[in-house]
Amino acid sequence: MRLVIMGPPGAGKGTQAAMIADRYSIPHVSTGDIFRKNLKEGTPLGLKVKEYMNKGLLVPDETVVEIVKDRLSEEDCRKGFLLDGFPRTVAQADALDQVLEEMNMELDHVINIDVAKEVLVERAVGRRVCKKCGSTYHVKYNSPSRPGLCDECGGELIQRDDDKEETVTKRIEVYLEQTKPLINYYSEKGLLLSIDGGQDIAKVGEQIVKALEI
Ligand code: AP5
Ligand code: MG
Ligand code: ZN
Repeated sequence: MRLVIMGPPGAGKGTQAAMIADRYSIPHVSTGDIFRKNLKEGTPLGLKVKEYMNKGLLVPDETVVEIVKDRLSEEDCRKGFLLDGFPRTVAQADALDQVLEEMNMELDHVINIDVAKEVLVERAVGRRVCKKCGSTYHVKYNSPSRPGLCDECGGELIQRDDDKEETVTKRIEVYLEQTKPLINYYSEKGLLLSIDGGQDIAKVGEQIVKALEI
């Protein structure tokens, strides 16, 4: 299965992507995660994207497209993949079409998680991530069994640098301007599955599985 999951910042893309990737045994390809890993390791790519991310702005299309192209050509993506956080502009979506065409592949579905704007800030600001393994929690909606510690690996839970309220608000603005138009883009191609992301994590997951298996 070749999938894209999209939606505003804090909608629950990463949370649902982990479940879907596991269920269908496909790699979860998150451009945000790739950038954060490079930031942490201080690679040239990390240095290049740092300022954009911390300001809540999009990394330039050419940089993102190159990273995704390389990742999709890896062996494990032959059986399918789930793209999370990419594409994020019409130019990226066009580039993805071209990359897939060159590889003789097509997308099966684009999952769009729809969440009211007011809910997004609370979700993002309350998010905590494991420093060691990247697992995601929420102080209120998905709390770990031991406060501040990861259930999976015992690692320390921290807040993402771009999850301060001011930066989250900027990210939402950028989403509305540059990414939301992709809803029409994929709807016109007949690929869009619209999911109500306002419910709890398990219910959103059930809706996605149901939509994929119709
Ligand atoms: P990225 O990492 O993709 O961030 P984002 O799109 O802003 O999305 P988030 O990861 O913040 O939210 P999510 O939807 O994954 O929510 P989650 O599941 O964690 O991108 C970061 C930055 O990288 C960008 O700003 C940009 O600079 C750069 N970048 C990345 N890709 C790029 C691209 N293609 N082009 C250009 N630049 C790019 O959930 C959020 C919280 O809510 C968690 O705490 C979770 O536990 C909780 N939660 C989840 N679901 C529910 C629910 N149903 N009910 C209650 N709580 C829930
Ligand atoms: Mg995410
Ligand atoms: Zn962990």
